[in-house]
Parts: sequence; C-alpha cells; structure tokens
Amino acid sequence: MTTIRFIREGIDIQCKPGENLRDLVIREKLQLYGLKGLLGNCSGVGQCSTCFISVEGGNKKSLSPLTSIEEEKLKNRPENWRLACQTLINSSSIILTKPQSPPQDLEVLKKNSENKKLPR
Ligand code: FES
Repeated sequence: MTTIRFIREGIDIQCKPGENLRDLVIREKLQLYGLKGLLGNCSGVGQCSTCFISVEGGNKKSLSPLTSIEEEKLKNRPENWRLACQTLINSSSIILTKPQSPPQDLEVLKKNSENKKLPR
C-alpha cells in the first residue's frame, strides 16, 4: 500500500500502487472538480482539462510520467500540475486538488504537510 496526502483536505489516503488518481479521489468522495468540471467533464478520458491537481511533494517517480495528452493539455500550466485522470500512482505523494483555486492558507497547509513524515 502507498499513501496519497491531500493537503487541502488534510487527510492521508492509502491506495494500491498503479491506481488511477482520479478514481481514488472519486472513490474517497473528495472534490476534484471546480464549477466547470462539475457542470461537465469527460469522465476521465483526458479531453476536458478540468481534473487538475498539483504535485506538492513526494519524489519525481511517485506518479506516472506525463502522458502525451497531458503534454498537450498542460502546455501553459505550471510544471507541477497534472490531469488526475491521466495519472497513475507509483508511491506516496502529496497532492493539492483544484490548484486553479488554491486555498488562502496554502503555504500553511504545505508546511504542516511537510512536517508530517510521508509513508513510502
Ligand atoms: S476528467 Fe477530463 S481531462 Fe481528466
């Protein structure tokens, strides 16, 4: 088992390596989508660009490499953004959901998250 730490929600969730990040978020009933994605999304086929997450910690290989779809869809986005539907979990990682509307206390949340040891 591996652990994904969701810093907005303040929770750690265990999952199996190889699991799709969007599937995990939905299974755990966390909020992945902003308003646009709630009104309509592509159900995980990489076409709507509404399932953004940002990677805030973990090692570089914690998540699968960018897919060709992400390379196209994330061209003008920060380097640490991913499409959850295109991302497979390899090992423990720290994630921010909806980075397009970050929480006001993001820096505090990040610091608190970094202070807790992340299981492998
Ligand atoms: S759910 Fe549409 S791009 Fe990820």
